[in-house]
Amino acid sequence: MIDGKKIRLVLLEDHHLDDIMRGWNNPVMRKFLGGFIPNTKEAEREWIQSAQLQMKNRSSYYFVIEDVSTSRFIGTVSLNAIDWLSKSSGMGIAIHDPQDWEKGYGTEAMQLVIDFGWQHLNLRRIELSVYSFNPRARYVYEKLGFKEWGVAHKKFFVDGEYHDAHYMEIFRENE
Ligand SMILES: CC(C)(COP(=O)(O)OP(=O)(O)OC[C@H]1O[C@@H](n2cnc3c(N)ncnc32)[C@H](O)[C@@H]1OP(=O)(O)O)[C@@H](O)C(=O)NCCC(=O)NCCS
Repeated sequence: MIDGKKIRLVLLEDHHLDDIMRGWNNPVMRKFLGGFIPNTKEAEREWIQSAQLQMKNRSSYYFVIEDVSTSRFIGTVSLNAIDWLSKSSGMGIAIHDPQDWEKGYGTEAMQLVIDFGWQHLNLRRIELSVYSFNPRARYVYEKLGFKEWGVAHKKFFVDGEYHDAHYMEIFRENE
């Protein structure tokens, strides 16, 4: 649907449930996404339904990241909580299997979704947050042009401790 060099983005569908469940309850990965609270398959089914409703309402777009040559599931990336009046959106990404980290998938998926936001949704600003213990994600965000605009100190309880969340934004006119 949106083809890159290593990966493509396709809209999140019901049939992605098993792919999501395979890696979703891995604490190593979930630590970076709000902490490890395991989800049942039914809860994930409801999450997909909720994502699809948001897409129907045009308030969010959820994509599955696939390997471009094998169509293997790699993760998900989203533009969410779109504010059409202000042309601003949130963003989230997860490459599910740690063995797929640091192979360039995340950078390419984010660049494709940012381009989609600028070129097709006519957004002008995208924001996200990242935990202080996630330098890999922060590095990728900075590489793509995100800049920090604020810190919420000790806001989130993850893995036994409270951690800071760093809020970052990117503007279309600065690209
Ligand atoms: C964060 C994430 C999306 C990045 O995607 P990715 O495919 O692993 O990243 P890429 O391979 O595109 O790029 C990784 C870069 O980070 C660099 N990096 C790795 N560890 C790093 C560290 N500790 N500090 C700084 N940079 C680091 C790599 O060298 C690489 O740099 P390069 O592009 O110059 O070669 C992915 O790792 C992921 O989903 N992690 C788990 C969930 C998560 O953290 N989601 C984001 C929540 S805010």
